[in-house]
Formats: sequence, structure tokens, C-alpha cells
Amino acid sequence: GAEPPIEAHNLAHTTFKRHWWCNASTPFVSGSGAQRTRGILAWKLHVRAHSRRPAQRPPSATRRRPWWGDACLRPLRPLVSGNRRRGGVARGCCCFSVRFLPRRNSPPPPRRSGRWAMLASVRGRGGPVLSRVAPLPRAPRGGELLLRVEAAGVNPVDYKLPRLVAGRITGMDVSGVVEAVGDESNSGGFEVGDAVWGHTFGGAHAHRAVVRCDVVARKPPWLSHAQAAALPVAYITGLQGLRDAGGLRRGGSVLVIGASGGTGVAAVQLATAMGAAEVVAVCSGKNADLVRSYGATRVVDYTKEDVGEVCEAGHFDVIYDAATGSGAGEKYTARVLPLLRPKTGQYVQINGSAWRWIRGLTGTMPKQQHLILTKANRADLEALLALMAPPAGGAEQGTPAIVPLVEEVLLDEHGVKDVFARLKGRHTRGKLVFIMR
Ligand SMILES: NC(=O)c1ccc[n+]([C@@H]2O[C@H](COP(=O)([O-])OP(=O)(O)OC[C@H]3O[C@@H](n4cnc5c(N)ncnc54)[C@H](OP(=O)(O)O)[C@@H]3O)[C@@H](O)[C@H]2O)c1
Repeated sequence: GAEPPIEAHNLAHTTFKRHWWCNASTPFVSGSGAQRTRGILAWKLHVRAHSRRPAQRPPSATRRRPWWGDACLRPLRPLVSGNRRRGGVARGCCCFSVRFLPRRNSPPPPRRSGRWAMLASVRGRGGPVLSRVAPLPRAPRGGELLLRVEAAGVNPVDYKLPRLVAGRITGMDVSGVVEAVGDESNSGGFEVGDAVWGHTFGGAHAHRAVVRCDVVARKPPWLSHAQAAALPVAYITGLQGLRDAGGLRRGGSVLVIGASGGTGVAAVQLATAMGAAEVVAVCSGKNADLVRSYGATRVVDYTKEDVGEVCEAGHFDVIYDAATGSGAGEKYTARVLPLLRPKTGQYVQINGSAWRWIRGLTGTMPKQQHLILTKANRADLEALLALMAPPAGGAEQGTPAIVPLVEEVLLDEHGVKDVFARLKGRHTRGKLVFIMR
């Protein structure tokens, strides 16, 4: 049958959002090639007419939030030539990707402050910025959960990774409440309303995020959302670095370089909790008391002393280097290798030069040296919880044995700008965590 004409107001509320949501019955999904082209033209013209945001709000019938089950029509490569403003002939081609989101039993995310889109920190040209019109995440599939994000940790990787690799929305550490389950038979035992924390592969710095069930764990009541959101990258890297790569044992000696930052404080706390007899911390003098309060037995102020000279050669079982290659010219490898215990000592780096990364990822690092990447998995999230649990033993409430050092920042324009400027400055203390309100 004849398809209804394309009406500009149908597009009005979607043009400024990049994603184009419409019902499966609209001509853009089922229309002929000509109408698809008209659709793109109408879209392009409309964008021009309104310069990003429509001047007039569309009629209320068309003004609604995308609903799970709607089709998501995403124009790819709209190539149109001709001067449309002056009524010239338009020629060109275009292609669409049309994806039908499966309709779920679970309700759509509740409306927050009446927006169709959500707040999120997105990768822009000059670094991450706040977007008020970031599209909602897609509906969760089997083995996935949709979370209402309560808190999300920030890591240097969030500004280092390009959009092509890590997606538009930043953030890999998340803590929140399950709002929808992709497939109840494959939900990892999680249900709507459960508080969970863990890893995402991008997209945590937003009000909603989709996560994989196998890389999140249930949040215990003795951990706040902000504390839980500080853990995944920094503490799981520390756990895997000290336990697996470093082979740390009770009574061992550990040197932590960059000890006052997110991963540094984590390593100092974990080494102490794992029974290290000596934890030497390398940081600036102003943070000496702070790292001592988290378990360091000795502090080397890198602004005044050379760690390679003031520490005894062949002394350490594990050297955990959270500073080398971090962007401000930090280079410790050659200076600290002589401090390793001969034959058994392990040097664990978590960043380094491109060449070291190639060797680390291809398993060709020299003996006793490692460059590790966090491996997201639920077993380690639970192992970390076991280390952190309040000393009372299985207590529902109480103070955790390891309390992460967290600074909460509201996810707004100022917060996003401030957090990433401070991270790039390389002198933050502990973890910065976005809080959603
Ligand atoms: N491989 C992985 O899976 C993985 C995981 C997490 C992080 N990382 C990487 O590890 C690095 C550290 O991450 P982070 O989250 O700990 O960063 P961060 O929190 O931004 O680290 C800041 C800390 O670095 C210290 N620092 C700066 N310059 C230093 C120097 N010359 N010597 C010693 N310490 C110095 C600062 O100490 P003062 O203020 O006391 O000077 C500050 O406390 C980053 O490069 C990150 O990309 C890798």
C-alpha cells in the first residue's frame, strides 16, 4: 500500500540526537529507496532549518521517549549534493542501518527530569565533556543487565582511549541497581532491583549503562556505591598484579611506585591486606602521611630522593610500578630493576612504552618482568570482596577491612571538566568517582 508522507515534525524531536528513533511502521523502515532518500533529505534539511535543536516543540503525540521495542534507525553516510536551500536539485545516495530492538517484558527506564536522552560524559575532540542528549543505551541482550548507575569510577584510560576503540561514553567502573535483565534464563542470578558493581567496557559515566553479567558482582551492604565504583580497575589490577604476576606471599616486601594515586593506594592497601611485611611507597612528600595511613611502612619522596639509590639492591619480592609511562615522563624501570630480589623478585608494570606493551601483550617480556592489563572477571571481584569484608566475618554491616580512598564528584559540566583536568595533571589522591543525582 501507499506509505504515509514524511512529515517534518515526525523528525523534529530526533534530529538533534544523532540516533533516530521511530516506530517500525514509519516509512523510513519499510519505504522504497526513493522514500528513504527523501527521508534523509528531509532529515538533512530539517537539521539545517533548525540548526541542531528545533525551534518549536513537536506535537505531544510525537514527543515521547524511545521505548524498548522501537526500531532504531541510524543513518550512515548521508551523502547528498545540490543546493537544497535555494531549491536546487538534490542528488546523492545514502545507506541505513536499521536495528529492531527486541521488546522486553521489563519496563523502559523511568523518565528522569523529562528527558528523552540521558546525561553522560562523552569523548569530544579536546577530551571528555558532558552531553545532555547522549542516547539511551540499547536494551540488554541475553547475559546482559541494564543498570541505573549510582556511581562510576574514573581512570586515566577514560581520557587516553580514543572513541573508535572505547565508544562514545567514557567509564569502565560502575556501581548501580539492575533495572532490566536481558534474558532471565541467562542473567547470572541477578534480578531487577539488585545492587551490583563491576566492569563495563565503556559507557559507565552515564545515568544508564548496559553491563555483562559475568563481569559484575552483587554489592554487599557494607560497601557504598561510591566505594564499589572505585574498585574494579584500580583494585582488580592491583590484585592481579600482586597475587598473579608478582606472586606476593605473607611476609614479603613490596615497593609501590606512584603510591598516592588510584592504583597506587589500592596496591598499598592490598599488599598490606595480603600480609606483606614491608610496603615501601614512592610518592611526593605531601602525600607521605596519607600513604602511611593506608599501610606503607616507609615512604620515598621522589621529588627529593632517587628510589634506585636510597633502597637496598636485591631487596624486594615485588615491585608494583604504577607510574612509569603514565604521560608525565615517569621512567622507573631501569632504576628499580636492581632492587628486585635475584631470581625470585618480580617487577610488575601497569603502563609503559609502546614497545613494552607489545612485549607484554605477546608474552615476550624479559624474565621476572610483567606488563599487565586488567582482566575483568567475576571471580576476582568476589576474591576482592573476601579480602575487604569487615573483620567480624560475614557481617552484613560494618566497616570494610579495606576502605578505598574516594573523592565523590557530581556528574555535571563542571564535574566532568574538573575530574579529567585533574587526572591529566597526574597528582590526584586515591580515586575520583562520579555520583549521579
Ligand atoms: N594496565 C592496566 O590495566 C591499568 C589499570 C589501571 C591504570 N593503569 C595505568 O596506570 C597508571 C596509574 O593509574 P592511576 O589510576 O593510579 O593514575 P592516577 O591516580 O592519576 O595517579 C596519580 C598519581 O601519580 C603519582 N605520580 C605522578 N608523577 C609521579 C612520578 N614521577 N613518580 C611517582 N609517582 C608519580 C602522583 O603522586 P604525587 O601526587 O604524590 O606526586 C599521583 O598520586 C596510568 O598510566 C594508568 O593508565 C593501567
